Amino acid sequence: MNRRKILQLLGKSVAAGAFFKLSTGLAQGKIPQGATEPMKTLGIPLREYGERSEFEQKVIRYISPNLRSRHTGASFTPLDQLEGVITPSSLHFERHHSGVPNVNPAEYRLVVHGLVSRPLIFTLQDLKRFPSITRTYFIECAGNGQNGYRNPPDMTLTATRSRGLVSTSSWTGVPLSILLKEAGIKEGARWLIPESQDAAAYIRSLPLEKALEDVLVAYAQNGEAIRPEQGYPVRLVVPGWEGSIQVKWLRRIELTDTPVMSKDETSEYTDVMADGKIWAFTWLMEPQSIITYPSGLQQIERGFHEIRGLAWSGFGRVRRVEVSLDGGRNWKRAALEPAPDPLSAVRFKVNWAWDGRETVIMSRATDEKGNTQPTQEEFFTRWARNNRYHYNAIQAWRIGADGRVVNGDRTLAGAPAQLGAAGRGGCGGES
Ligand code: CO
Repeated sequence: MNRRKILQLLGKSVAAGAFFKLSTGLAQGKIPQGATEPMKTLGIPLREYGERSEFEQKVIRYISPNLRSRHTGASFTPLDQLEGVITPSSLHFERHHSGVPNVNPAEYRLVVHGLVSRPLIFTLQDLKRFPSITRTYFIECAGNGQNGYRNPPDMTLTATRSRGLVSTSSWTGVPLSILLKEAGIKEGARWLIPESQDAAAYIRSLPLEKALEDVLVAYAQNGEAIRPEQGYPVRLVVPGWEGSIQVKWLRRIELTDTPVMSKDETSEYTDVMADGKIWAFTWLMEPQSIITYPSGLQQIERGFHEIRGLAWSGFGRVRRVEVSLDGGRNWKRAALEPAPDPLSAVRFKVNWAWDGRETVIMSRATDEKGNTQPTQEEFFTRWARNNRYHYNAIQAWRIGADGRVVNGDRTLAGAPAQLGAAGRGGCGGES
């Protein structure tokens, strides 16, 4: 097969950019003086727990400023510096209300009580005796995307601060349905009231139907014990639903006939709709996508680039992601790689040769139920401008002629809206 044939197969725009760029680089390349240094001495000896390269120490979570306390708020996964689908456990986003508790697994107990035939107390070892399953799920804070409520848009926005309150892990645990059957669900039980073992005594209401469907009582994350920030030693994983209901440091589940209407689901995590009505129990996370490269505050050069991003939906699998390279006039279908799993993030990619002209790029995800991300204008026909959660409008990035990338969201008509106008900003609150 000759070179021409290969070029045709790969597609003109990709091949032209890729081969030109690569061959230029090779012709001008020089091996740095220090490149052979690691060959001259013995390296680091065997060690018991791994660490990343000293040159990667700058890849860190972004912590939203909170002038009141460092014990409540959120830290964001650095989406613009990660690859693939799985989030390293150490970079999983955090959201907690009273700091991270230090729970001793030897003294850990999970109590299941209320409308059950047999109230039960499980140790961690008890939980590990039950049949386990492992699934890859994203967890997303209800406040992810909250910056999108700002009007005019925040021009310092990065992909991390735009959508970094989402992370994807391989979770292992026992299906909650197994524990509930062990305890025996009494007639009339409709709701579960899970409670956390931290200083917030965080409490939510979870419908029994969902609990029996796919909720996990998880004790492992990416193959090892769950990190303290994510709920060590045991948390709920409620696939596709907002992170706030996936109670961490799980100590108690009470079965009841009604929701509890706790402080944690009334003062927060309740939504204001465009028609002024209040919507409680908004659990499902709608389709999202974010271009992570190139994205806010990055700098690119003319020529070939693989546009990369992440997409996910609480309704199931991502069916397709489309990317626009001209401000939303034309859309092309992105490659999804690897093939999407249900309720997991997926990586999307589009090959692109940038000609150096100013442009706006954006992505939109559609899930297997046919839900598509709305434009900014469409989003605000449904949700109030002073709401704080569930923002999933299309995120645009503007690339200037100098290659500088900034937030490409438009300023909307109407009154300026500052984040947190309806009160403190909750999980994403940066104001
Ligand atoms: Co909600």
